[in-house]
Amino acid sequence: MSKLIVGNWKMNCLAEDGTALARGLAEKVKQSSKPSDLALCPPAPLIPLIVEATKNSAVSVGGQDCHWEGLGAHTGDVSASLLADLGCTHTIVGHSERRSDHGETDAQVKAKAEAALEVGLVAIVCVGETEAQRDAGDAEIVIGGQIACSLPTGGTPDTVVIAYEPVWAIGTGRTPSLNEISAIHGFIRGKALESHGLGDGLQILYGGSVKPSNAAEILAIGDVGGALVGGASLTVEDFWGIIESCP
Ligand code: 13P
Repeated sequence: MSKLIVGNWKMNCLAEDGTALARGLAEKVKQSSKPSDLALCPPAPLIPLIVEATKNSAVSVGGQDCHWEGLGAHTGDVSASLLADLGCTHTIVGHSERRSDHGETDAQVKAKAEAALEVGLVAIVCVGETEAQRDAGDAEIVIGGQIACSLPTGGTPDTVVIAYEPVWAIGTGRTPSLNEISAIHGFIRGKALESHGLGDGLQILYGGSVKPSNAAEILAIGDVGGALVGGASLTVEDFWGIIESCP
C-alpha cells in the first residue's frame, strides 16, 4: 500500500497563497512518474478553491474537523456532509490542537469520526501524548485510551486512518527516535485490532515535525503508513521533498 501524506495547513494561508500552493503541488504530481497518495487539509473556507486548484490531479482534499451532527444549529461548525458535498474525501478529527483549544473529548472525536464515515469521508483520527504524560511514563496508557474511546464504531482500514502525533513533537522540531516511533506504531496497531478489529491494512500516520530531512527515515519504518505534516506542508518545495521521500 502506498504511503499517505497529508498536509494539515491549520489556520494558515489566505485565498491567493493557498491556491498557488495547491496548484504547485498538483502540477508536481502530474509531472511525477511516482504514484503518490496525498491530501491537503486547508482551512474550511478555502476548500472550494483548493478542490478547484487540484481538479484532475491525484491530490485529494480534506477537512481539518467536522461536527458530529448532520446539519443544524451549531454556529461556526462545519458538517461532514458539507465537506463531502464540496469535494472532500477525508477529514481530520481529534487533532491535539482541537482537543486542547476546544476541549474536545474522546467521545466527541468518536462521534465526529462516525459522522465522517456516515457521509463517505475517510476519518483521520489523531492520538498522541503530551510531554508531561510521556515523562510520567504514561504514553501508552493515554494513547491506548484514546484509541479505545475515539475510534469510530464500524470503521475499516479503508475508512479509518490513525495519526500518531506526540503533542510535544508538533511544531517543535523534536521527534521521537525511530525506534520509539516504530514501537508506538506497533502498539497502536495492536490496540486498534483489540478494540475495533482494525489490523492489517490499517494506515497509521506519524505526525510531528516531519520535514524533508527526516521524512525518508520515518517513512521507511514498516508500521508507518504515511505522515501528517503541518509546517512543512506550507511550501511546495518542503511538502514535495517529503512526498519524494516515500520509499
Ligand atoms: P508540524 O509538522 O508543524 O510539527 O505539525 C504537525 C501537525 O500537527 C500536523 O497535524
